[in-house]
Amino acid sequence: MKQAVIIGASGGLGGALAQLLLKRGHWQVLGTYHQSDPLWQHPLMSWQALDIRAENEIAALMTHVSKIDLLINTTGILTSSHQGPEKSIRQFNAEHMMMSFEINSAPILNLAKYAQAALKASHKPIIVALSARVGSIADNNLGGWYSYRCAKAALNMAVKTLAIEWQRSLPNATLIAYHPGTVRTALSSPFLNPNTDRVTLSPEDAAEHCLQLLETLTPANSGTFWDWRGQKIPW
Ligand SMILES: NC(=O)c1ccc[n+]([C@@H]2O[C@H](COP(=O)([O-])OP(=O)(O)OC[C@H]3O[C@@H](n4cnc5c(N)ncnc54)[C@H](OP(=O)(O)O)[C@@H]3O)[C@@H](O)[C@H]2O)c1
Repeated sequence: MKQAVIIGASGGLGGALAQLLLKRGHWQVLGTYHQSDPLWQHPLMSWQALDIRAENEIAALMTHVSKIDLLINTTGILTSSHQGPEKSIRQFNAEHMMMSFEINSAPILNLAKYAQAALKASHKPIIVALSARVGSIADNNLGGWYSYRCAKAALNMAVKTLAIEWQRSLPNATLIAYHPGTVRTALSSPFLNPNTDRVTLSPEDAAEHCLQLLETLTPANSGTFWDWRGQKIPW
């Protein structure tokens, strides 16, 4: 059996990825949830509560895992209780931005810190950080969404930097940043715009695209940024 850890399996994309892996029959999945209690069970699925902001909780989670073949971090926020994505600089609030960094950027590094031993136990570990195309500086033609864009750009830099370190210490690992497309989940649904978001994906289709791409990647692709169509996104 292969071992997957899906951080944020209670979310739209995380849940679909977990269910798709389980359907394949040769994956055991450890999924985490935070505020949404798990709504489904499976004999090969185990659930663990985790607040991704708490380093001690990440450390404790990883003590239960001896091998990880696939680690996908799907945690992310676009809005907080009092703030949505900024349309203009007038709406900028540094506190919201810091929260965005805490949940969108830092977790991949804390996960890497504590998952490293379990990843080393796999002969070909894959690590995926759910980023977003809006985190690409080169691709930023529309502006807006300051906090989310900056947090995902920081996540991208974390992925690139970690991939360089792992070339030496974890050379068999493939670590990528990934844009799943515009997926109809709780995170994005309130902001879907039929004029600009002409192609939207169900979480199930988005999960299929993601796993299909992972089958084609090798450690030589580590430290790169990909989209759901299997194309590289410039940083
Ligand atoms: N949907 C899109 O169109 C889209 C586009 C580009 C990129 N993305 C990225 O894809 C990823 C998945 O997004 P999604 O659309 O599936 O969103 P979602 O349905 O809202 O899921 C977000 C997940 O993050 C978890 N989470 C949030 N705060 C957390 C915390 N403090 N500790 C632990 N877990 C926490 C949530 O857990 P609980 O619900 O249990 O609290 C949930 O499992 C995100 O990184 C997002 O930025 C999504």
